[in-house]
Amino acid sequence: MKSTACALTLAAALAMFAGCGGDKESSSSSDTNTGTAAPQVDNAMLARAKGKAIFKSTCAACHGEDGKGLPNLGKDWTTSEFIANSTDEEMLEFINAGRSIEDPANTTGVLMPPKGGNPSLTDEDIKNVIAYMRSLVG
Ligand code: HEC
Repeated sequence: MKSTACALTLAAALAMFAGCGGDKESSSSSDTNTGTAAPQVDNAMLARAKGKAIFKSTCAACHGEDGKGLPNLGKDWTTSEFIANSTDEEMLEFINAGRSIEDPANTTGVLMPPKGGNPSLTDEDIKNVIAYMRSLVG
């Protein structure tokens, strides 16, 4: 239930963009929204904020806090053509499966574990991570 508590905290904190470490990307002010569009914007921001929390606890150990990858552990996301050229569905499939060192597609000789080594992640969690990843990759 930790993630639910975090999500609630985030929802409360989103107005200040301070959730789980803050997110410069989502610094558009609700003042600039017409009232009707606000709920969708909030959902997208919430997905990114939840994804960021999961990223930090599961992916950053190898991919680095900034997504640029740690030497011999994870790959740089920010320059990845694979990410840039894949749909969210394809990314979800990839992250669920990981990429073993035997996989001909492996480029580093290092294992990308299924779900980043965290089997408790749901598809929903991973979609949130993808939303956050897209904000890093631009
Ligand atoms: C134990 C280290 C480790 C963890 C934890 C990890 N990864 Fe990876 N990841 C890797 C390695 C190594 C590669 C590169 C595999 C290769 O050589 O092709 C990779 C590759 C990737 C790629 C493909 C990049 C490309 O350009 O081919 C994506 C996307 C990715 N990881 C997402 C994630 C996500 C999301 C998480 C967290 C849920 C995560 N990874 C957690 C090690 C890790």
